[in-house]
Formats: sequence, C-alpha cells, structure tokens
Amino acid sequence: MRYRYLLMLLLALPFTQKGYGFAAVKPAGLQCEHLERPLGIDAASPRLSWMMADERLAAKQTAYRVVVGKDSLAVAGKKGLVWDSGKQNSSLSLVTYKGKALEAFTKYYWLVEVWDKDGKPSSSISSFETGMMTMANWKGAWISDGTDVKAKPAPYFRKVFPAAKKIKSARAYIACGGLYELYLNGKKVGNHRMDPMYTRYDRRTLYVTYDVTSQLQNGKNAVGVLLGNGWYNHQSTAVWDFHKAPWRNRPTFCLDIRITYADGTVETVSTDRDWKTALSPVIFNSIYTAEHYDGRLEQVGWNVVNFDDIKWKNAGLRTAPSGNVVAQVMHPVRNVEKIPAISINKINDTAYVFDLGRNISGVSQITVKGEAGTVIRLKHAERLYKNGRADMSNIDQHYRPTDDTDPFQVDIVTLNGRGEESFMPHFNYKGFQFVEVTSSKPVQLTKESLTGYFMHSDVPVAGHIKSSNPTLDKIWFATNNSYLSNLFGYPTDCPQREKNGWTGDAHIALETGLYNFDGITIYEKWLSDHRDEQQPNGVLPSIIPTDGWGYDWGNGPDWTSTIALIPWNIYLYYGDDQILRNNFPNMKRYVDHITDISPSGLTTWGLGDWVPVSDKPPVEFTSSVYYYADAVILAKTAKLLSKTDDYQRYTALAAKIKAAFNAKFLNAATGIYGDGRQTELCMPLYWGLVPEGMKTKVADNLAKKVEGGNNHLDVGLLGTKAILNALSENGHADLAYKVAAQETYPSWGWWIVNGATTLYENWRIDAKRDISLNHIMFGEVGAWLYKGLGGIRTDEQQPGFKNVLLKPNFVSGLDHFEARHDGPYGAIVSSWTRAGEGVVYEVTVPANSSATVYFPLTGSQKAYQDGKVLTGKTEIAAGKYKFEIR
Ligand code: BGC
Repeated sequence: MRYRYLLMLLLALPFTQKGYGFAAVKPAGLQCEHLERPLGIDAASPRLSWMMADERLAAKQTAYRVVVGKDSLAVAGKKGLVWDSGKQNSSLSLVTYKGKALEAFTKYYWLVEVWDKDGKPSSSISSFETGMMTMANWKGAWISDGTDVKAKPAPYFRKVFPAAKKIKSARAYIACGGLYELYLNGKKVGNHRMDPMYTRYDRRTLYVTYDVTSQLQNGKNAVGVLLGNGWYNHQSTAVWDFHKAPWRNRPTFCLDIRITYADGTVETVSTDRDWKTALSPVIFNSIYTAEHYDGRLEQVGWNVVNFDDIKWKNAGLRTAPSGNVVAQVMHPVRNVEKIPAISINKINDTAYVFDLGRNISGVSQITVKGEAGTVIRLKHAERLYKNGRADMSNIDQHYRPTDDTDPFQVDIVTLNGRGEESFMPHFNYKGFQFVEVTSSKPVQLTKESLTGYFMHSDVPVAGHIKSSNPTLDKIWFATNNSYLSNLFGYPTDCPQREKNGWTGDAHIALETGLYNFDGITIYEKWLSDHRDEQQPNGVLPSIIPTDGWGYDWGNGPDWTSTIALIPWNIYLYYGDDQILRNNFPNMKRYVDHITDISPSGLTTWGLGDWVPVSDKPPVEFTSSVYYYADAVILAKTAKLLSKTDDYQRYTALAAKIKAAFNAKFLNAATGIYGDGRQTELCMPLYWGLVPEGMKTKVADNLAKKVEGGNNHLDVGLLGTKAILNALSENGHADLAYKVAAQETYPSWGWWIVNGATTLYENWRIDAKRDISLNHIMFGEVGAWLYKGLGGIRTDEQQPGFKNVLLKPNFVSGLDHFEARHDGPYGAIVSSWTRAGEGVVYEVTVPANSSATVYFPLTGSQKAYQDGKVLTGKTEIAAGKYKFEIR
C-alpha cells in the first residue's frame, strides 16, 4: 500500500511543478502498529501513523487531530469517540493512542484530520481491530492428537458446528505450537504460509486472527486444521540440537471462532475434546529438511461437513506451550512470487532436472500423473554436478541424519494413481535453484510440470535502484533476493543449510533491509525474541530464537549487538522510539555484562571478521569496536529517554573504550590501525573511533591499501559493513564505487559475472567450506548504494526521514544513478545524470518533511537552481527539485 500510494504521488509530482497541480490534499497511507487496517492487535496503546498526499512545493502539516471510535459514521462526524487528541499544532504523523481503555474483539475506526501549510483541513479514515487483549479471553482448550513426539504423520483435526442465525461477522483466532493450516468448509483460510512465526515457544506463543465472515454459512459448517512440526517438534537432527529443544512436543493448537450474529448475540466455537482427529497423508514434515506425502492416504473431503469421520478419534487436552499467547502483528510469510522453470533436462524417463533460472527460498510444486505407488523424489539444490545432476554438497554439511529416511531438501511423494496429482509442501521451505525429480517408475514430465514459489515474509517494497551500470543493478537485485530469502518472521543466515537467526548476519544486513523493504514489524517481533532469550546477566545467544545452543559460541558483541543496533536503526529509519523504550533495559544489561568482563575497556569476546578474503584482525579489535558502538547507542538512547544518569555513565564508558582502543591499536604518527588491514582501517572510521584530526590520514591509508589491492576488498563480514561507507564518507567515493562495482575476484560483481542471482557466503566461488549460495551477510552493499551513491541518509536530529540528508556522490565511471526510498513521509528520490561536463541532480522530498542537500563539488564547480548559484549545502522543503552542477 505504502508503495502504491507513493507511486501515485510520484506520478503526480511533475504536474505540480508546472503549476497545474492536483488539489487533492489528504492524509494517506494510514497505519496502525505499522500495518494497514490490522486485525487482532493486543497493544493497549497502539501507534497510529499517516502520510500527507500533498504534492505542492513546501507541503507540510501544520496541525493534526486524531479521533477514534467504534462507529464509522460517528467517527466521520467526529462524535461518540473513545479518543479525541484535539487539534495539535504539530507536524507529528506518528502518535500513540491515549484514549479510553480499548476493549477486546472490537473494531475501532480512526480519523486523522490534518491542516496543511495554508491551515486548510482534510481528513481520512481507517480502522484497526483488537484481538484477545488478555489471556483470560481465550475460550478454547489446547488440543492435540496425543501421539508421541517421534510420530511422523501430521495430524488432521475437524469439527462440524451450526451457525443458527444470520451471521454479521466472524473471526478465527488460532494459536499454535508448531505450524497450522486452517480450513473452513473445505477452503484454506488466508494465504499465510508457515504460520505462526517461530518464537521461543515456551516463553511466547503467537496467535493469528482472520476475518472468516465470508467463509461461514448459515446452518452447518466444518472447520479443519492440519498441524505441522515447524521448529516446535524438530525431528531432523543437525548440529544445533533443535531436536532437543526444551519446548519440544507434539504440535498443538487452540482455536476460537467468534461469530457475531445479526441480532447482536455472540457465539464462540472452540477447540475441545469433542474435536475429531486422524493422521493425514503428510507422512513426514520437517521445516529443516523436507516433506513426505502419500497420496494413497488422502481422505477426500476431510474438511467439509458431509465427511464421515466415524473412524476418527477424539482429540485430547494438552498444556499450552506457554502462558504467554500474544498476537502476531506482522507481515506474514507468503508464496510471494511464482517462478516458472526456465528449462528441463530429461536424463531418462525416471530422472529430470528443472532449472528455475534463479536461486530462491521457498518450495516447488509438481504436477504429475503416474501409477499408484510410484515414488517421486524431488531433490532441491543450488548447484549441479558436471553430469547435470543435483549437487547438495555445499549445503548439507551440518545435517546429522541418523538414518536414510529423511534426506536433506528432498520431498518424497507417493502417487495415488487417480489422475493428475499436484504436490507442494505445507510445512517446509528450502533454498534452491534446481530440482532433480526422480521416480520409481517412468513418468512423463514437461517444463511446465514444476513451478517454484519464492517464499518469505511478505514485507512491502520500500526502495528502488536504477543505474547506468547493469552489474550494479544486478548486485542490488541479488542483495534483495538474499535479504528476502532470509526473512521468515526472523532474519536468517541462509534458507538451506541452517535457517538460523544468526545475529551477526542480521545487523550487517539491517540497513539494506530498511532501505529496500518496510520490515519494522519483523524486527519488532525479533527483538521480543531477543528479550525472551536474554540471560539475567545480559548474555544473548548467537542465534535467536534458540533451543539453548549459542550461549557459549559466537555470541560476542560482534554478533549479538543486535540488541542495540537494531532498535537504534529502526528509530533512525522510522522515527518511532517504541523499540528503544522496549529494549533499553535489555541493552543496558547487555553492555553492562561486557563491561563486567572487560575492565580495560577492550573485549576479546567474539568471532571476528568472519569469512575474510585473506585473514582477519585480532578479535579484540573488531569486538571492541562493537562494544563502543553499543555504548554510544546506549548513551544516545538514555539522552532521548531523559535518563540523565545513564546518559552520563554510558558517555563516559564510550570515551573510555575509545581511549583504550586508540591507545592500543592506533599509531598516531602513521595513521595506521593495527597491522593496517582494510578491516582495521575502515571499522574505526565507520564506527567513529578515529580522533577527529586523524580521519583524513586514516582514510588516505585505507584508500592506499585498497588501491594496492587493485581496487579489491580484502575484508570479511565485519569489514564489509564499513569499507564502502568509510571510503565514500571520507573523500574516496570514486574508489568506493570501483570496489562496489568490481567484477573480478574478490568482489560482489565477481559472483554476478559468474551467474549469481543471490549473494554468496564466500568470496571464492570454488571454496571448500562456507559455500552457501544464498547468504545475506555480505549484504551491506545494497544499503551503500542508497547512502554512498544516492546519498539518501537519515538525520539523527530528525529521524524517520523527517529531515533527509542528501549527500550524493557523482562518481566517475557512472553516468546515471537513481535511488528511491519510500520512508514514513513518502518517496524520497535522489537521481543524478551526467550532462556534458556537469551533472543534473534531481530530488524529490515528500510532504511534511525537508532535506539538507550537500553538493559534492570539485574544483571550480558550482551548483545552480534556476540559474541561481547555491552554496555547497542547501536546505530544501518538500517538493521536486532540479539542480545543475557545472
Ligand atoms: C552461519 C553464518 C553465521 C556464522 C557464525 C555460519 O554457519 O551461516 O552466517 O554468522 O555461522 O559464525
């Protein structure tokens, strides 16, 4: 929605400039808890936000008023309200509800009225609906089929119930330990996949709300549920011991269908012992490996009214996975993109290999006809052997199978022989480009027999890059593919080998995510996961969520500083401080722990510059940089939250770390840190540890080092976050561009020229270990395009792009570059094109925001607007601008 609205706004802008603008000033893009018209929220004080559709020059909001009520007509007339903010002379467009206590199961309408720059009002209406609000509102019981955790087939559940009167509205609330698919009268409810999202199940269990009004009928109705294991009942065995998770159990769920009749009465249909259960044809499902399906066991019509369930047994009651069942308020995982196969290679009539043409996370769907009992195996791989068969050797090395019944990334389907059969896994996803299909008896397959679905958290697109260098555009595309492939309700490292919430990978990729997608809901949820996993002494595990693995390995500040870095960046990009408020005590506890174990101000806790090109600096170097970054964030957050003592304490701590760091690692005479590796030179620059007067010297040393390597990077995970920014922010943008667009080893472009459509885990494409082909950990380059070339940056003094810093770099070797980011106020565009000796620079600043433009002038160059000379820096209001630099 955000995207569609912004597009409309963009299209309208040129007309405005010429003076025949649309007069349609209106609040637009209304959101509650950062979602459009959410259903089933639990927040007692939800956040309400909006943008301004006002394409005039210097458009801004001079005042606002928010009113909330239960009756849409009354709200439109600003009457009968549960909250009226009154007219506030403010340009704020994100407010927190402060009215009467919200009731559960209630739809609230809200109107926002804004006064424009001329004091003229206009308004728009939206809604949100509360869910359970408190645990006491649940009516259903937690049920399961009572089978052992080791039992493999997924259970079905069903119940037939009457809806005796005319239905006005109906909602389904489903909480689950494991994964569910919910059906009403034979049809799947909603289009979510892999729901609910993964949490530390024994501490927080999520429920999902659906509007099922149109799926119910007067008279008898049938509700059906299929339960999968997910991370709740991990039956596959791998190095992180998820099969030993403390929460592990046979999947279970609790469901309330709340029906409101036209006469105003309410009836709730709930889970209880009277539900029937039987095993389904999903004979095995593992989120980590694959799914097995036996079509001969299908029970046609299992989820409709007239099904004979006489042979089914009654469900049994179970304890809830946790006592903390909360609403899932986030963009769900979906089958977002359909990817047809681009080729099929028939090896023989029992073996075919399909190529999707690009690497994705998700599933394949096969449609096939064959004899009953024919076993089809679908092996999903990122690579092929020379003989054209699927090669899994780069992704299966952490799997520890105990027998051969659960092969990695191999779906196994047994046909029932009743005609054309179609299969797509319910409760698993994989990382792959190729699918090798083998069958126990000959089958005929064509290219159309198999389709891929790119699955991920379906976050709205919030950015776009277009340049005159196709390699750069492909790097951007590949970065986004890897970012999305690693977003499943929590950020992961890779969609195949691990699917783990590796903290380090996530903070490196954070800004890439924030420039390109509207992911706040995912990160807010993931930070709740952090709080669930934090030890009383502040320690966090290296993977989140975790079954307990990761408290002793890989969890130093270079990885688990997510607790500070994510809230701080969400604040910068959204201007919403709730995540800082929610996590401040956790950030403190974390940093205080590092301080306890690091009296000198330096820490050796961490993994270091992971998967470097050549070698890495001492861990003490890289981890102390993150310790410093955390202390700085904590100090700034304390100031923001008016916690004066903490502000002073963490400011002093940051100063202490900085002094200790420079005393140990900086050679003040030469401006070299440590042994002068790229990572050692770029990290202190990027994270602000270099003494003010030394920056140029250190940056020049970095530039020399990079040039010495023929404009190639020589860094690992931590270095990639810093290197391009350290160069472009310190006078070496041309060089940063050369490194970013490099096409020979080692570089992002090297992967691209070798056919990559995703980012890799290793700079070498022929490496022997750490060789997943879909890792996001080197993904900062995607953010750098916006920052280093487009120059679109947050302004810490006015976060959420209230004021945009525009610091473009017109780098040599590139003729055109355009970045667009859809922020909380609307589309920000920064676009430059070479024209003769000069550059034409075009900018869009959305309504109710402003920008500070820094022109990168060289020599005798000047910036002009309508023939007028500007200084090197200029403040602009909302609108569309064209500057000439010559
Ligand atoms: C993961 C990484 C992760 C690392 C930690 C790997 O196995 O795939 O991306 O950050 O372990 O060392």
